[in-house]
Formats: sequence, structure tokens, C-alpha cells
Amino acid sequence: MKKNIVTLVDHNSGKTYEYPVLEGTRGPSVIDIRNLFKDTGMFTYDPGYTSTASCESKITFIDGAKGELRYRGIPIEELATKHSYLDTCYLLLNGTLPDHVEHKAFDLELRHRAFLHEGLHNLFKAFPDNAHPMATLSAAVTALASFYHEHLEMENEAEFKEMAHRLIAKMPTLAAFAYRHSLGIPFIQPDIDLSFTKNFLTMMRAYPGGKMHLSMLGHEEIKEIEVRALDTIFTLHADHEQNASTTVVRGVASTGAHPYVAISSGIAALWGRAHGGANESVIAQLEMIGSVENVDAFIERAKDPDDNFRLMGFGHRVYKNFDPRARILKELQDELRIELGLDSELMAIARKIEETALSDEYFISRNLYPNIDFYTGIILTALKIPKSMFTPIFVIGRTVGWLSQWIEFKQDPTSKIARPRQLYTGE
Ligand code: ACO
Repeated sequence: MKKNIVTLVDHNSGKTYEYPVLEGTRGPSVIDIRNLFKDTGMFTYDPGYTSTASCESKITFIDGAKGELRYRGIPIEELATKHSYLDTCYLLLNGTLPDHVEHKAFDLELRHRAFLHEGLHNLFKAFPDNAHPMATLSAAVTALASFYHEHLEMENEAEFKEMAHRLIAKMPTLAAFAYRHSLGIPFIQPDIDLSFTKNFLTMMRAYPGGKMHLSMLGHEEIKEIEVRALDTIFTLHADHEQNASTTVVRGVASTGAHPYVAISSGIAALWGRAHGGANESVIAQLEMIGSVENVDAFIERAKDPDDNFRLMGFGHRVYKNFDPRARILKELQDELRIELGLDSELMAIARKIEETALSDEYFISRNLYPNIDFYTGIILTALKIPKSMFTPIFVIGRTVGWLSQWIEFKQDPTSKIARPRQLYTGE
């Protein structure tokens, strides 16, 4: 087969250089410029890496134009509707979905690993009251590296799998501890009889001893649809190829630092408003709009080129037709509204924004559709989860993606320390 080549012409020297074009199994081809500096003495300039493939990966594929997202080749719609989050974790880590026996063993192992070392309880106690759960969560994951020193060598597959399982299992417990600490209420231990997602909801809501009828937030028993909704949110967040936080995780991995520190760095990167923090901003904006009557005025502001107000939860850098995750969540939101009998003012405002924007020429002509964050905020609010926990919930879902990418990086013989160059314009 003829190999495709790209020719670069330097008109100053008159020299030409040839670079091979690599074909993936899906998506755009890439020009292999690894020898560019050696050949030409020049670098490429690409702030934000908008045209740069930083690695080869077999984990997740996105086609932004078609609105397609696949984990290990399987469409997200299939995973979100036919499989559990734990199945998705197994798939991302191992490359195939588990059979019944594998699922059971994986589930059991995670239940056993959900508990925290007593020393970590003391760490939480040292943080100030009202600390944001993202700050305490990130610190606690770094602290885990001091409790588990092994896993720095990648020769032993059983060892790094254990490292990954341990962190996936403990993340909901750490997030629930971070939340309860922020309210100054006693920690709840994981319950080995509960599924991954139900256990997390219980650790968020229950009184010590797991009594739901006395729950802090006035809830009765956790409903199955609530568990399914949160499980779906975890699945939809599980990975998103080389996004900002994953790039940070791979960057820290490239230095040889402890894996838990790499994941903690991913948490820090996710916290920002432009990334995982966006879901918190959607609800803050709906609260600011305040009532359905005010929606039209805010839509006009979003369209005004002289006003920097933007509709949070609309538009996406990669998805330019629709965000497939948002479609799934919209259906789930409608189901929740009917089954839980919810119809809050916040939901009514969101519905009015959606209807108005989707039929408005400004939004249609710019391909601005609701993204995943538009619906996660509304659904998590319906589950009585406070805004400060939206991004920690994103962390719980994304932990498996970061770990899968960390492992892939470590196993890739072409991996190198992340060390970009610069265009110097100073004195
Ligand atoms: N509200 C109003 N106008 C918008 C919005 C919006 N949410 N998003 C984009 N536009 C307009 C821009 O003003 C611009 O208009 P112009 O062509 O008249 O100048 C046009 O649409 C294109 O916008 P860009 O900023 O160039 O699009 P880009 O792809 O760079 O930005 C982004 C994508 C950052 C997500 C943007 O749509 C945005 O700010 N959305 C709101 C924040 C948000 O929801 N973020 C979460 C994204 S999902 C995630 O990352 C997990």
C-alpha cells in the first residue's frame, strides 16, 4: 500500500522535507512530525494543542461533527442504556465488557476496597469548615500516595490493576467525606451490601448508621430511578479522550510521579469553570435568571455582541451538531420529572431557555446546542445534590478514564516526558 507523505517546503532555503501521514482506525489522519526539529531546526506553534495529537490511544473516540462518542469502540448510547457504570469501568480498563462472573468479581472487589484508612479521617478533620469539596478531595487523593507507596513499577499488571481498582472504589467515599466535612456533619462508612452508586448516594444523605428515614436532607429511601440517573451520569463522564484534565494526568505520568498524584492533578485541572466546573455555573446562572419571565431578556443579552454574557451549558468546542451525552440526559431528565413528580422553577426556566434558544436564528446559525453540563446540573439538583458536589461527581465518573489513560501511557513504548517548546518573544 502506498504510504501517504506530506511535503514541507522552506522557501527561504529552497529545501523540501517529507513527513509520513499516519492513519488511525477512525478520525482524521495525523502528520508524524517527530523528526521536524532534527530535520529543519524549527518547531510548530499550536497554543491549546488544537491541531496536535499528543499520543496514540485505543480508549475513546469522538467525532464532533457527527455527535459520536465511543468507549473501546462501543457507542455511548449503548453503554448508557444497556450497561452499568461498573461495566463501563471494566470496559475502559480491560478493553472488553465483563461477563457475568467478571462483573460480580469486579463489583465485589470494589465494595471491599471502598473503605478509607483511619489516618485519612484525621486528614479531613484538619481542613477548615466550609472548605470546597474539590479542594479536600484533591488533597485527600494526594495523601493516598502516602498510605500506598507501591505501584511505581509497571512490570506487574496485577499491581497496577490493584492500584486502579483501589482508587475507583475509594473515590466516592472520599467525595462523600469531602461533602460531609464541608457541612460539619459526621462521616458515614461505606456499606458493603450496596451497589457502587447507591452506596455513594447513601454516604451523601444518611445519618450515621445508614438510617435514611432520618436523612439530613429530608429524603426518604433512595429511589431506583435516582440511582440509575446518577449511574448514567457517571458513565457519560467516564472518559473523553485527550481533554484538559486527561492531558494533565498524562503529563504528570510522564515525569514518573506516583499515579495517585497524577490523578490528584487531574482533579485540580477539572475544577476550572472552563472544564468540569461548568456544571456548577449552569445552575448558578439559572438561579440568577430567577424566573421564567426573565428568560427572554437574558437570551437577548446572550445574543448581544457588546455584552459578554453567555448562556452557560450551550455550545461545545468539539461537538458542533449535538452533544450525544446531552441527548441521553435530556431523556433522563424528562423521565425524572414524571417519575419523581418534580417541576421546580429551575426546571421551568431551563425548559424555557432550551425551547427559545433551539428555535432562535442566532443559536441555530452558530450550532449552539445544550451540552452535557446543561442537563447534569438540572438532574443533580433534582437528586438534591448541592452545586458544590457537581464537580466531585464528575471526578468520581472520570477517575476510571484518567486511570485507563495513565496505564496506556505507561505501557506505550513511544511515551516521552511532556516537554513542549516555545516561541520566545521577550528581551
Ligand atoms: N451563548 C451565547 N453565544 C455563544 C455561546 C453561548 N453559550 N457559545 C458560543 N457563542 C457564540 C460566540 O459568541 C460566537 O459568536 P460570533 O461568531 O458572533 O462571535 C460563536 O457562538 C462561536 O463561539 P466560540 O467561542 O468561537 O466557540 P468555541 O467552540 O470556541 O467555544 C464554548 C465553545 C467555550 C463551550 C462556548 O460555546 C461557551 O462558552 N459555552 C458556554 C460555557 C459552557 O457551557 N461550557 C461547557 C462546555 S461542555 C464541557 O466542556 C464539559
